[in-house]
Amino acid sequence: MGITRLLQASCTLAILAILFSLTACESGDDNTATVELTSPDGSLKLYLSLGGLSSRLSYSLFKDGELIVDTSYLGITDDDWGGLEDGFELIDASSYKGNVSYDLPWGEVASVDAGYEEGKLLVRHPYSEAKFSVIACVFDDGIGIRYHFPEQEGDKTRLEVLDEDTRIFLPGNPLVNWGPGDWNSYENPTELSLHSEIDATKYDNREELISRVVPHNAIMTPATVRLENGVHLTFHEAALIDYPGMTLEVLDNLGFKSKLVDSHRRKAKAICDLPFYTPWRTIQVEDRAVDLLDNMLILNLSPPSEIEDISWFEPMTYAGVWWEMFLGVGTWDYEGGQNVDNFLGVDRGANRHAANTENAKRYIDFCAENNIGGLLIEGWNTGWEDWLDPEQRAEVFDFVTSYPDYDIEEVVRYAHEKGVQIVMHHETSASVPQYEKQQDEAFALMQNLGIHVVKSGYVGNIIPEGEYHHGQYMVNHYRNSFQKAAEYQVAVNPHEPIKPTGERRTFPNAISAEGARGMEYASSGRRDDVNQPQHLAHLVYTRCLAGPFDYTPGIFQLDISDFRGSDARVGTTLGLQLGAYVVVMAPIQMVADLPEHYKLEDGSYHPAMSYIRNMATNWDDTYPLAGELGKYAVVARKVRGEDRFFVGGISGDEDQETTLSLDFLPEGETYTLTIYRDGPDAHYWDNPTDLVIESREVTSADELSVLMKASGGFGAIIE
Ligand code: NOJ
Ligand code: CA
Repeated sequence: MGITRLLQASCTLAILAILFSLTACESGDDNTATVELTSPDGSLKLYLSLGGLSSRLSYSLFKDGELIVDTSYLGITDDDWGGLEDGFELIDASSYKGNVSYDLPWGEVASVDAGYEEGKLLVRHPYSEAKFSVIACVFDDGIGIRYHFPEQEGDKTRLEVLDEDTRIFLPGNPLVNWGPGDWNSYENPTELSLHSEIDATKYDNREELISRVVPHNAIMTPATVRLENGVHLTFHEAALIDYPGMTLEVLDNLGFKSKLVDSHRRKAKAICDLPFYTPWRTIQVEDRAVDLLDNMLILNLSPPSEIEDISWFEPMTYAGVWWEMFLGVGTWDYEGGQNVDNFLGVDRGANRHAANTENAKRYIDFCAENNIGGLLIEGWNTGWEDWLDPEQRAEVFDFVTSYPDYDIEEVVRYAHEKGVQIVMHHETSASVPQYEKQQDEAFALMQNLGIHVVKSGYVGNIIPEGEYHHGQYMVNHYRNSFQKAAEYQVAVNPHEPIKPTGERRTFPNAISAEGARGMEYASSGRRDDVNQPQHLAHLVYTRCLAGPFDYTPGIFQLDISDFRGSDARVGTTLGLQLGAYVVVMAPIQMVADLPEHYKLEDGSYHPAMSYIRNMATNWDDTYPLAGELGKYAVVARKVRGEDRFFVGGISGDEDQETTLSLDFLPEGETYTLTIYRDGPDAHYWDNPTDLVIESREVTSADELSVLMKASGGFGAIIE
């Protein structure tokens, strides 16, 4: 039990003051030192320490005088040096106050300005002669901790990291919103459970197309906990550069320990040239769970933008021939053999290739009529017949050869004439060397055609064998892809990606990513198999806190029994499909359903299309309004550069009634609010499209009461 945990029982500010008053950046000659770091508003205090019987490095964290992270050890294991865990000698302790300020070309806010205090302990490990620092940084709403390895004496020029031992000890047994720490896929269900009840290894499943590799009882990040005192902490990382992704192993004595994703092609999990900074291990801290939605810590700790001009990318909604494939209406391949029906054993016959010129033009007309900015066309290039064939998938795709029924130049010409952007698709079948050698040619084709967005995909286990989606090799590939794409004015939306860790600050062309179960997991229509009612309310407090998410909302035909057999449903209400556009932040948001599904029987558009037509995907500001961990979230956002606002809410597995203050509106102005909310009889399975649309005048003094049904929600425009 750490000293701070003992203190917790009788913790008073007075005791703490005595204990720590003398220790700010103090070091004695007995190899003890504590750097005390305080957030600008004084609420957070972090103590970075060297000491104890075995001279270990540790930190602890307090909020408003209360312990929120108990004494937690820090360490790392290198192949040559062995475990750098204890017996350290102090070289130097220091701290300073700083400020970070930047503009965002797109995102949840227009600009950020935040103060922090940063400190470090530089130590020597006498047995190995390793020299390194632990660096900590404290903002008002969270902290980051990382290791820095400067150039070493002798001939050591690179780290060979076997694992990292960064711990997070928590007071009590918190509620945790978590998904399994899978080395290969983030497309697993998530859970809300007590820390003591986490069982992640049950998700290990090597039989899947992308095998689920959960070798330890570890969770993915972001994960959010609610401590017994009500404070919420989100664990994640920032500036994940040239290093494996981190999972968090569950410790029996309540807390977590970093566990890096492996590579089976070599002994070390990370090989890094010196000097080297590891990624930041981040803890975002908020009283209310929903305040995590505009917590900018991850970006604050990320390197500044390397792309000066991103004006060629416009935030937008986009449609796609995509959902056709998931309903079994269309196919990716020309011959018509490759579609989701294969997995169901259904054969609907050939000649249903969705990416043909005529179909593309039909979708372009639909986009133009409804102010939808882009159109994604998957299955346009050759290779799909064999993309899952183990013998062929290493070399199956090229990214420049169209199928014979798809005239790419004509489609792009027609789209541009109608003011619609084409979104390119690069499915790589996870064959990374094959993609890397073609990226220049593929991006150059896009630039020549005036196509500025690509959705990429990495279905299957990674080629070369022995690498995982979340290991160092792939972290580098995804990051290099952002950099290379930017040279060709291309923005990237990877599916089967590495989780976002702030890349968008450095590369604003990292516009979105999958990395969770999106709407495709609803397409089977089977009640026990689709995304469960709590799904999106969990993602809001886990995956979405990493950065933009390509959730692919906008399904209007939620009864899919015509395509998937009787009683097949998507499993949400229409209200949730609309609310998701506001709650889930991304500068490109899909309008995912088939064009005909947005129409009523008489051929007119569904009245809720007015919401889609007016939808914004870029914001000046974000106002978290209400929510509960894993249960629901309601947020308002101001449209970038306009006097318009959206409010959106989504719920989990229970009905939620909430009353919201509209005091985020400018005072004294009168606006028209139009709400699209779950109707009184809405039910995510039995009656998913019951929707009420109503308008009224509002001012900042008003309140809005809304009932969201389970797996439901609402969207509102205020203008
Ligand atoms: C999986 C992606 O998540 C999905 O959106 C895409 O259509 C298929 N792979 C094919 O690339
Ligand atoms: Ca996927």
